[in-house]
Amino acid sequence: MIDLTYRNLESYNQAKEKAKNNPEAFWSEIAANFHWHKKWDTVLEYNFHKPEVKWFIGGQLNITENCLDRHLETQPDQTAILFEPNNPSEAAQHISYKDLHSRVCRVANMLKANGAKKGDRICIYMPMVPELAIAVLACARIGAIHSVVFAGFSAAALAARINDASCSMLLTADGGYRGDKVTPLKDIADEALKKCPTVNCSIVLKRTGQAISWNTKDVWWHEAIEKADDHCPAEIMDSEDPLFILYTSGSTGKPKGMVHTCGGYMVYTAYSFQNVFQYNKGDIYWCTADIGWITGHSYIVYGPLAVGATTLMFEGVPSYPDFDRFWEVCAKHKVNQFYTAPTAIRALEKHPVALVNKHDLSSLKVLGSVGEPINAEAWHWYDDHVGKNKCPIVDTWWQTETGGILITSLAGVTPQKPTYATLPMPGVQAVLLDNDGNELSGEQEGILAIKHPWPSIARTIWGDHERYKNVYFSAYPGYYFPGDGALRDTEGNYRITGRVDDVVIVSGHNLGTAPIENALDEHENIVESAVVGFPHDIKGNALHAFVIPREPVADNETLIAELRTLVANTIGPIAKPDRIQVVSGLPKTRSGKIMRRILRKLAAGEYDQLGDVSTLLNPEVVEEIKRNS
Ligand code: PRX
Repeated sequence: MIDLTYRNLESYNQAKEKAKNNPEAFWSEIAANFHWHKKWDTVLEYNFHKPEVKWFIGGQLNITENCLDRHLETQPDQTAILFEPNNPSEAAQHISYKDLHSRVCRVANMLKANGAKKGDRICIYMPMVPELAIAVLACARIGAIHSVVFAGFSAAALAARINDASCSMLLTADGGYRGDKVTPLKDIADEALKKCPTVNCSIVLKRTGQAISWNTKDVWWHEAIEKADDHCPAEIMDSEDPLFILYTSGSTGKPKGMVHTCGGYMVYTAYSFQNVFQYNKGDIYWCTADIGWITGHSYIVYGPLAVGATTLMFEGVPSYPDFDRFWEVCAKHKVNQFYTAPTAIRALEKHPVALVNKHDLSSLKVLGSVGEPINAEAWHWYDDHVGKNKCPIVDTWWQTETGGILITSLAGVTPQKPTYATLPMPGVQAVLLDNDGNELSGEQEGILAIKHPWPSIARTIWGDHERYKNVYFSAYPGYYFPGDGALRDTEGNYRITGRVDDVVIVSGHNLGTAPIENALDEHENIVESAVVGFPHDIKGNALHAFVIPREPVADNETLIAELRTLVANTIGPIAKPDRIQVVSGLPKTRSGKIMRRILRKLAAGEYDQLGDVSTLLNPEVVEEIKRNS
């Protein structure tokens, strides 16, 4: 195992100072802990106005040699992936570094035998089984760019992502288990592939054994792997070669394919993983995210494996077979670091605490939270009942675009403060801005921005560098703008207050309102729609859609049911609005712009905070919406 960790406040403060005074020397020293085929010539070149960011330029490496081969000399038998299946009666799997290395090499050879090569884009649409992590690593092994699509997305969403990156191959499975449900992944993939001319091979893992249809481009995983041997030299990559694409929602209908590159991403995910969670050799670390999201990429696969950790991968859901599954798994595998989302905590908090107490959680040392602001009640429940007031809680703020955790405490090393993500990591320069882009000092509320690059910042949006510039670097020139608001206390701790754009975080999932509106507008009887978020007890936020029908309908319920299905089919079930309200108009300015601020207040029931609506083009619709909600 490599050790990049600050174990006390003194070394943390020294690191912070060093990173501030000489970022390049700081990152260079950290990067020297990894295996490079060729050392970089230049640590960093950047220009946030262009924008352009490059790290460890001229360096050559393969991330899988750092995640796998390197550990074979020191800890071949250490468990790399500990797999806990959805069904508790199915045996857990302990996959050692040696086994993982050989399985990754075999899959890498299987990909090559089916035509994949360096630079190709390979889409992965799989359940949370070890083969998913293996597939990701196998792509990296041969220098193919993986694009993992969360297995809850619809056929249309999958096709859009495959086509955006012109993927040549799809890796999928017959089906996937999640709680008491079986997702027909192959059927969904078949539907998607009808619209994906660039895919010339689809490799299918048998997981559920359910009946599926078979097409000419399909290959069974278990048959193809038979022919693949376990020796596969790693493709040598430039530090700035793309490692993967991962799609995230934006303010327009089209998802953004964030591109992460090999060198900087490896250095930052490993560095942040070890420091934030204070991982020690032999610890069992569990992140409950899905590998379909950035949290799974950075903190189930790459970060933990790069330092030689044991990472637990869970196929199921917190409620199956009962609401104590998380705690049962923690006790069963003696989990030391547990990293989950506030929405899961809030859902579990609603159930009797006896469900937590019946399990021995004494192995837990560190708790983590990610994906959305954690409210005080959930924070204290987590602290009291799961951590028994003895486990530090790291509230980690970051994004798909940032690649790794940027603002957080380090477990047990730096002070925590409930509901605050606290301080930027050493090497991260966060600031608060006012609306005009002036830096604020001291205790303030404002717009969060980052003023110097860190190694794992996304380098572009696949195929659309202009959009990358517009979304992240144009609002406040000279800064990276993440789209979040924050407040800062006198000690410099940050509390994230939420999105300042049209993205809503629902159950920790980042959902743009625009793609949902586009989906609703596809209905033949919908003229216009507007979707906003409103506060929700468990999900943090939920969606309220206002829709205007072309013709009034006798039965709104049927229309609403059709609209919900339409959203599920176009994007995925996670995007279905909680509420759909049929209205005759939307509040608009005289120039015709929808007043989302008013819709947000209406959806939240905050009628006394609507402000002056008399200047609207159509103030009467506000009354109508209030009357009918
Ligand atoms: O609004 C912030 C929220 O999640 C957004 C990023 O979403 P995504 O790219 O899907 O990545 C989620 C996992 C890293 C952010 O812009 N967010 C994430 N973590 C936190 C958070 N909000 C408050 N506190 C956090 N710890």
